[in-house]
Amino acid sequence: MSKCRVGVLISGNGSNLQALIDACGLADFPAEIVVVISSKADAFGLERAKKSGIPALVLDHQDFASRALFDEEMQRLLDRHLVDVVCLAGFMRLLTPAFVHSWQDKLVNIHPSLLPSFKGVHAHRDAIAAGVRISGCSVHFVRAEMDVGPIIMQAAVPVLPDDTEEVLGKRVLAQEHVCYPLALRWLAEGRLSVVDEKVGVSAVAYGESALLVPPH
Ligand code: GRF
Repeated sequence: MSKCRVGVLISGNGSNLQALIDACGLADFPAEIVVVISSKADAFGLERAKKSGIPALVLDHQDFASRALFDEEMQRLLDRHLVDVVCLAGFMRLLTPAFVHSWQDKLVNIHPSLLPSFKGVHAHRDAIAAGVRISGCSVHFVRAEMDVGPIIMQAAVPVLPDDTEEVLGKRVLAQEHVCYPLALRWLAEGRLSVVDEKVGVSAVAYGESALLVPPH
């Protein structure tokens, strides 16, 4: 069977991109990354893509007069590569509602908190400030509002008393690298359905979409 064609959008380091690249390297993985597009020319993720022989493109918002024009060009690039599914992996731009709607339930994001808590770019700082005992990550379908959308999978990790943003970030990131490939696998296998903005995962034990990582 032909594999699901994935476009990955990045802006930075691309460690989640790397986790997806590694998963796509497995013979039985049902998806392949056909293009990586970065909003920043110096994103290290571009090197990761090139190293794996994946077309790596840059789309700089400064070259576009509006958000809509930027997204239209993004759409053209994805169409040109016959992309079926788009994964946001540290992509630091808000996409227009028109773009998001056109990718309904085919556009996924990973966020470093247990959504709907701690949306935005300071998830770890906010989690520590709130004094929560547990944080984690969420893979979700994207909706027009930032960090909102039906949740596919979450992993929970402890927040320890001496945690800094960096330490907690590393603990969460390790789980992001577990969750994102699994969520993409389910999506590519056609196991996911969205009813009333809740995700059902067929033929997968419910617990597999809710990982609990104990303190160590
Ligand atoms: C991750 O923490 C992801 O959840 C967030 O941005 C970060 C990207 O990291 N959306 P990387 O570029 O994948 O290493």
